[in-house]
Amino acid sequence: MDYQRFISDQVAEIQRDVGRGIAMSALSGGVDSSVVTVLAHRALGSQLKTIFVDNALMRAGEPQHVVSTFKGMGIPVELIDARKEFLQALAGLTDPEEKRNAITHTFYKDVFGKAVKKAGAKFLLHGTILTDIEETVAGVKRQHNILEQIGINPEEAYGYKVLEPLKTLRKDGVREVAKLVNLPGEIAHRIPFPGPALAARIVGEVTEERLGKVRAATAIVEEEFARSGAFQYLAVLLNDRATGIRGGRREFGEIIVVRVIDSTDAREATVREVPWDTLHRVCRRITEIPGVNRCLYDLTPKPPATVEYV
Ligand code: XMP
Repeated sequence: MDYQRFISDQVAEIQRDVGRGIAMSALSGGVDSSVVTVLAHRALGSQLKTIFVDNALMRAGEPQHVVSTFKGMGIPVELIDARKEFLQALAGLTDPEEKRNAITHTFYKDVFGKAVKKAGAKFLLHGTILTDIEETVAGVKRQHNILEQIGINPEEAYGYKVLEPLKTLRKDGVREVAKLVNLPGEIAHRIPFPGPALAARIVGEVTEERLGKVRAATAIVEEEFARSGAFQYLAVLLNDRATGIRGGRREFGEIIVVRVIDSTDAREATVREVPWDTLHRVCRRITEIPGVNRCLYDLTPKPPATVEYV
């Protein structure tokens, strides 16, 4: 594929679609939404409003880091603090699809709806890629960012049109484009991170306290495997407890699962054979998180498992 051509075609198409209007981009800091934001900024300049929504489900320090990275590239990003709205919408929910739905609606209707109105925008740019559409249409899983393909008309439901410039690319293609538009290597090579963020890695209810645990475990796993070259590595908090001992006392503690996979596009994945000494070190660090007394390594490929747990 001629990616330079892809870039100029998409820039022209965005200009044609948006005309003299205002468009919004919701940046998450992942490679997909980052590429979309850069393409749209090229196409629209100041007609583009980019926001980053802090949904309380992000990794440690992520919102501030993303905003300052884009500022460094000359793309202004407004940080919207919607932590309360998301935590309220998720309170009491344990079913995976209900959790995903709550995130979708809070994002597109409440938070976005408000931001779009404020900016007078008629278009929302989306980082949807081909794999998201295929898996959703096949009924494998509803990705949080798929609307039209499952019969939700965003114009009727939320009041704006959705543009999806990357919908013909897979992850490897998006990374090629990221390099060509000069996104920092840190973003171009970033491991995938799901739109529902850490909520995809908490089985059971998402609360601030449980988010704190999975966030701490995620930071450890990302640090330990940063140079592994694996496709994706993650930590998951289970909705179960196990007996353990801490400080000579019985503790009925939380369980964290570590997952390290190799894949080219996340449609299928194999499990990385991690050296024992690395696994032991990861286990020791993770069980130092207060309240966590077990750490498991997931040996399941995709299929039959998916990458995320929710
Ligand atoms: P699964 O869990 O479906 O994940 O095997 C496949 C790849 O997609 C990522 N993922 C998501 N990305 N929104 C996203 O943007 C989502 O709702 C979502 N769910 C999973 C996952 O991290 C993996 O790379």
